[in-house]
Amino acid sequence: MRKIAIETRGLTRRFGAQLAVNELNLLVPEAGVYGFLGPNGAGKTTTIRMLLGLIRPNAGEVRLFGESLAGNHQSLLRRVGALVETPSLYSHLTGRENLEVTRRLLGAERNLIDRALGIVKLSDDAHRRVREYSLGMRQRLGLALALLNKPQLLILDEPANGLDPAGIHEMRALIRLLPAEFGITVFLSSHLLSEVEQVANHIGIIHQGRLLFQGTLPELQAQRQEHLTIGVKQPDQALRCLTDAGWSAHKREDGWLTAAATTPDTAAQINSLLVSQRLEVFHIALAQASLEDIFLSLTNDTTTAPTAERRAA
Ligand SMILES: Nc1ncnc2c1ncn2[C@@H]1O[C@H](COP(=O)(O)OP(=O)(O)OP(=O)(O)O)[C@@H](O)[C@H]1O
Ligand SMILES: [Mg+2]
Repeated sequence: MRKIAIETRGLTRRFGAQLAVNELNLLVPEAGVYGFLGPNGAGKTTTIRMLLGLIRPNAGEVRLFGESLAGNHQSLLRRVGALVETPSLYSHLTGRENLEVTRRLLGAERNLIDRALGIVKLSDDAHRRVREYSLGMRQRLGLALALLNKPQLLILDEPANGLDPAGIHEMRALIRLLPAEFGITVFLSSHLLSEVEQVANHIGIIHQGRLLFQGTLPELQAQRQEHLTIGVKQPDQALRCLTDAGWSAHKREDGWLTAAATTPDTAAQINSLLVSQRLEVFHIALAQASLEDIFLSLTNDTTTAPTAERRAA
């Protein structure tokens, strides 16, 4: 069995009457990238702060590398690097000097600075003052700080936040490299499914403090249900025709129809049925629900009408 880097059991945190994290059972395998996905206010940062021992849970337990965090803070957290929100950097110092400050605090070896700079590809800019750094460079320096003490586990809270597409691309490439090249387990949070999908091999989805899904990326993608989108000149008649014939079909707000595709022949059968009724079909295609659809259906966001329709389809 694969080793587990992070495990939480019934992890719960309240702020006043509000349940920010509600009986969370996370299971994060070692040496991969785990994407912790959830919309704003879902409880991601609160969870991360508990993983790092920054706040205490009201109930439940955090286990790192198979040991309970309670009572083992020092020894366990020494093996963890973290970047929560924007890194606190001294802008009047150079990149290297910033790392040097932290190195001394940690009592870490000198050569680790060059190693960290190399990993985040800042070696050539290490002599420049941080005030001259772009946001992407600052974020990478923050990552270098988190990597300084050769952590086994790296916890990143929304590492792509505020970066432009080029910065996001660099950060993504870097994160992907860490498990394979350095054996590091990466746990990162994001509110963007498309982002997580590109870096993570395990995914947990949190909404209103509860874990809605946990599994591998292929397991999540398997939930994509195939459906047909149908363009027809007489959508209301066509809808009646399809539902009378026993198909599960719906009309979208844009006037197009969707139907659940149960077999590969569905498109052909529906097409001939509609054409036989002299309905003018100008488009019929098989489409997969996007991960965004899955996410929205998992979070059961019925406030968005098109999603509710798509889910029903
Ligand atoms: N210190 C606090 N005091 C009171 N309520 C808090 C505190 N920290 C978080 N909360 C509440 O707990 C809930 C979860 O917040 P949290 O910051 O963990 O969400 P998040 O998933 O990180 O969101 P975001 O994507 O916006 O960063 C929110 O409703 C938030 O208002
Ligand atoms: Mg947050």
